[in-house]
Amino acid sequence: MQDYREILAEILIDENSLKKRVKELADEINRDYAGEQVLLICILRGALPFMVDLMRNLTIQNSIDCMAVSSYGEGARESTGNVRMTLDLQTNIQDKNVILVEDIVDSGHTISHVLEMLKTRKPKSLKVCVLLDKVSRREVSVPIDYLGFPIENKFVFGYGLDLDEFYRNLPFVGVVDLNRYNQNE
Ligand code: IMP
Ligand code: MG
Repeated sequence: MQDYREILAEILIDENSLKKRVKELADEINRDYAGEQVLLICILRGALPFMVDLMRNLTIQNSIDCMAVSSYGEGARESTGNVRMTLDLQTNIQDKNVILVEDIVDSGHTISHVLEMLKTRKPKSLKVCVLLDKVSRREVSVPIDYLGFPIENKFVFGYGLDLDEFYRNLPFVGVVDLNRYNQNE
Protein backbone atom coordinates (compact mmCIF):
# COMPACT_ATOMS: atom_id res chain seq x y z
CA MET A 1 0.00 0.00 0.00
CA GLN A 2 1.39 3.37 -0.98
CA ASP A 3 1.84 6.14 1.52
CA TYR A 4 -1.16 8.42 1.10
CA ARG A 5 1.15 11.36 0.36
CA GLU A 6 2.22 9.68 -2.89
CA ILE A 7 -1.31 9.72 -4.25
CA LEU A 8 -2.80 12.80 -2.62
CA ALA A 9 -3.51 15.44 -5.27
CA GLU A 10 -4.93 17.92 -2.76
CA ILE A 11 -6.71 18.11 0.55
CA LEU A 12 -10.26 19.00 -0.37
CA ILE A 13 -11.76 19.32 3.12
CA ASP A 14 -9.44 19.56 6.11
CA GLU A 15 -10.00 18.19 9.58
CA ASN A 16 -11.20 21.46 11.11
CA SER A 17 -13.70 22.14 8.32
CA LEU A 18 -15.11 18.62 8.71
CA LYS A 19 -15.41 19.06 12.45
CA LYS A 20 -17.15 22.41 12.11
CA ARG A 21 -19.60 21.27 9.43
CA VAL A 22 -20.49 18.02 11.21
CA LYS A 23 -21.27 20.02 14.35
CA GLU A 24 -23.53 22.32 12.30
CA LEU A 25 -25.40 19.33 10.86
CA ALA A 26 -25.85 17.86 14.34
CA ASP A 27 -27.17 21.21 15.59
CA GLU A 28 -29.70 21.24 12.77
CA ILE A 29 -30.81 17.72 13.66
CA ASN A 30 -31.03 18.66 17.34
CA ARG A 31 -33.37 21.53 16.41
CA ASP A 32 -35.50 19.54 13.95
CA TYR A 33 -36.07 16.64 16.33
CA ALA A 34 -36.25 18.55 19.63
CA GLY A 35 -38.11 16.44 22.20
CA GLU A 36 -38.00 13.35 19.98
CA GLN A 37 -35.83 10.28 19.53
CA VAL A 38 -33.90 9.36 16.40
CA LEU A 39 -32.34 6.20 15.08
CA LEU A 40 -29.19 6.82 13.03
CA ILE A 41 -28.48 4.19 10.41
CA CYS A 42 -24.91 4.01 9.20
CA ILE A 43 -24.31 2.58 5.76
CA LEU A 44 -21.12 0.60 6.26
CA ARG A 45 -18.33 1.14 5.91
CA GLY A 46 -17.77 4.59 4.46
CA ALA A 47 -20.13 6.46 6.77
CA LEU A 48 -18.57 5.21 10.02
CA PRO A 49 -16.36 8.16 11.05
CA PHE A 50 -19.01 10.63 9.91
CA MET A 51 -21.75 8.97 11.95
CA VAL A 52 -19.56 8.69 15.04
CA ASP A 53 -18.66 12.39 14.93
CA LEU A 54 -22.28 13.30 14.19
CA MET A 55 -23.70 11.33 17.11
CA ARG A 56 -21.14 12.79 19.50
CA ASN A 57 -22.65 16.19 18.76
CA LEU A 58 -26.27 15.13 19.24
CA THR A 59 -28.11 16.24 22.37
CA ILE A 60 -31.44 14.60 21.46
CA GLN A 61 -32.01 10.97 22.43
CA ASN A 62 -30.57 8.67 19.82
CA SER A 63 -29.73 5.10 19.03
CA ILE A 64 -27.70 3.65 16.19
CA ASP A 65 -27.68 0.71 13.84
CA CYS A 66 -25.66 -0.29 10.79
CA MET A 67 -26.37 -1.89 7.46
CA ALA A 68 -24.26 -2.78 4.46
CA VAL A 69 -24.99 -2.84 0.76
CA SER A 70 -22.92 -3.64 -2.27
CA SER A 71 -23.32 -3.21 -5.97
CA TYR A 72 -22.54 -5.93 -8.47
CA GLY A 73 -19.33 -5.36 -10.34
CA GLU A 74 -17.37 -4.32 -7.31
CA GLY A 75 -13.80 -3.17 -7.70
CA ALA A 76 -15.00 -0.63 -10.22
CA ARG A 77 -15.03 2.92 -8.95
CA GLU A 78 -18.56 3.51 -10.07
CA SER A 79 -21.86 2.21 -8.84
CA THR A 80 -23.62 -0.13 -11.25
CA GLY A 81 -27.14 0.40 -10.05
CA ASN A 82 -27.53 -3.24 -9.01
CA VAL A 83 -27.56 -2.68 -5.29
CA ARG A 84 -28.20 -5.46 -2.80
CA MET A 85 -28.23 -5.63 0.98
CA THR A 86 -25.36 -7.65 2.44
CA LEU A 87 -25.97 -6.88 6.12
CA ASP A 88 -29.40 -6.14 7.52
CA LEU A 89 -30.35 -3.98 10.50
CA GLN A 90 -30.72 -5.42 13.98
CA THR A 91 -33.47 -2.95 14.80
CA ASN A 92 -37.14 -2.85 13.90
CA ILE A 93 -37.54 0.63 12.47
CA GLN A 94 -41.34 0.71 12.44
CA ASP A 95 -42.70 3.98 13.93
CA LYS A 96 -39.18 5.33 14.51
CA ASN A 97 -37.61 8.56 13.31
CA VAL A 98 -34.88 7.25 11.05
CA ILE A 99 -31.93 9.20 9.69
CA LEU A 100 -29.89 7.40 7.08
CA VAL A 101 -26.22 8.40 7.27
CA GLU A 102 -24.06 8.01 4.16
CA ASP A 103 -20.58 9.17 3.18
CA ILE A 104 -21.19 10.23 -0.40
CA VAL A 105 -23.89 10.32 -3.05
CA ASP A 106 -22.62 9.78 -6.57
CA SER A 107 -25.08 8.31 -9.11
CA GLY A 108 -27.69 8.12 -6.35
CA HIS A 109 -28.44 4.42 -6.89
CA THR A 110 -27.25 3.26 -3.48
CA ILE A 111 -29.28 5.72 -1.41
CA SER A 112 -32.31 5.44 -3.63
CA HIS A 113 -32.35 1.66 -3.29
CA VAL A 114 -31.82 1.75 0.47
CA LEU A 115 -34.62 4.31 0.87
CA GLU A 116 -37.08 2.13 -1.04
CA MET A 117 -36.13 -0.84 1.10
CA LEU A 118 -36.51 1.05 4.39
CA LYS A 119 -39.81 2.69 3.44
CA THR A 120 -41.50 -0.72 3.26
CA ARG A 121 -40.72 -1.14 6.97
CA LYS A 122 -42.93 1.81 7.87
CA PRO A 123 -40.70 4.16 9.86
CA LYS A 124 -42.40 7.18 11.43
CA SER A 125 -40.09 9.41 9.40
CA LEU A 126 -37.13 8.83 7.13
CA LYS A 127 -34.47 11.40 6.32
CA VAL A 128 -31.07 11.34 4.63
CA CYS A 129 -27.86 12.85 5.98
CA VAL A 130 -24.90 12.80 3.60
CA LEU A 131 -21.40 14.16 4.02
CA LEU A 132 -20.51 14.67 0.34
CA ASP A 133 -22.57 15.11 -2.80
CA LYS A 134 -21.14 14.72 -6.32
CA VAL A 135 -24.04 16.68 -7.74
CA SER A 136 -23.04 16.47 -11.41
CA ARG A 137 -22.97 12.65 -11.37
CA ARG A 138 -26.59 12.08 -10.38
CA GLU A 139 -28.50 9.46 -12.42
CA VAL A 140 -31.48 9.04 -10.13
CA SER A 141 -32.75 11.89 -8.01
CA VAL A 142 -32.54 11.41 -4.25
CA PRO A 143 -33.76 13.65 -1.43
CA ILE A 144 -30.90 14.87 0.77
CA ASP A 145 -32.15 16.49 3.98
CA TYR A 146 -28.77 17.23 5.57
CA LEU A 147 -25.70 17.77 3.41
CA GLY A 148 -22.13 18.41 4.48
CA PHE A 149 -20.49 19.57 1.25
CA PRO A 150 -21.31 19.52 -2.47
CA ILE A 151 -18.14 18.47 -4.35
CA GLU A 152 -16.88 18.25 -7.90
CA ASN A 153 -16.60 15.01 -9.81
CA LYS A 154 -13.24 13.84 -8.49
CA PHE A 155 -12.38 10.58 -6.73
CA VAL A 156 -11.91 11.33 -3.04
CA PHE A 157 -10.60 9.36 -0.07
CA GLY A 158 -10.25 9.67 3.69
CA TYR A 159 -12.68 10.28 6.57
CA GLY A 160 -14.35 6.93 5.85
CA LEU A 161 -14.02 6.95 2.08
CA ASP A 162 -11.76 4.28 0.69
CA LEU A 163 -9.49 3.60 -2.21
CA ASP A 164 -9.69 -0.18 -2.63
CA GLU A 165 -10.63 -0.44 1.06
CA PHE A 166 -7.62 1.51 2.38
CA TYR A 167 -7.11 5.07 3.64
CA ARG A 168 -10.48 5.31 5.41
CA ASN A 169 -8.67 6.47 8.57
CA LEU A 170 -7.29 9.70 7.11
CA PRO A 171 -8.69 12.63 9.10
CA PHE A 172 -9.39 14.75 6.00
CA VAL A 173 -11.09 14.28 2.63
CA GLY A 174 -8.49 14.30 -0.12
CA VAL A 175 -8.54 14.08 -3.90
CA VAL A 176 -6.77 11.00 -5.26
CA ASP A 177 -4.25 11.36 -8.05
CA LEU A 178 -5.22 8.16 -9.87
CA ASN A 179 -2.26 8.55 -12.27
CA ARG A 180 0.14 8.04 -9.38
CA TYR A 181 -1.82 5.17 -7.86
CA ASN A 182 -0.33 1.70 -8.34
CA GLN A 183 -3.28 -0.56 -7.83
CA ASN A 184 -1.37 -3.76 -7.09
CA GLU A 185 1.12 -2.49 -4.57
P1 IMP B 1 -23.81 5.82 -5.87
O1 IMP B 1 -24.63 4.58 -5.66
O2 IMP B 1 -23.34 5.95 -7.28
O3 IMP B 1 -24.49 7.08 -5.37
O4 IMP B 1 -22.46 5.60 -5.10
C1 IMP B 1 -22.31 5.79 -3.78
C2 IMP B 1 -21.17 4.93 -3.27
O5 IMP B 1 -20.04 4.93 -4.17
C3 IMP B 1 -20.67 5.50 -1.97
O6 IMP B 1 -21.32 4.88 -0.89
C4 IMP B 1 -19.20 5.20 -2.01
O7 IMP B 1 -18.98 3.96 -1.40
C5 IMP B 1 -18.84 5.09 -3.46
N1 IMP B 1 -18.13 6.30 -3.95
C6 IMP B 1 -18.57 7.19 -4.86
N2 IMP B 1 -17.68 8.15 -5.10
C7 IMP B 1 -16.62 7.88 -4.31
C8 IMP B 1 -15.36 8.53 -4.10
O8 IMP B 1 -15.00 9.57 -4.69
N3 IMP B 1 -14.53 7.94 -3.19
C9 IMP B 1 -14.85 6.81 -2.52
N4 IMP B 1 -16.02 6.18 -2.68
C10 IMP B 1 -16.91 6.70 -3.57
MG1 MG C 1 -20.52 3.97 0.91
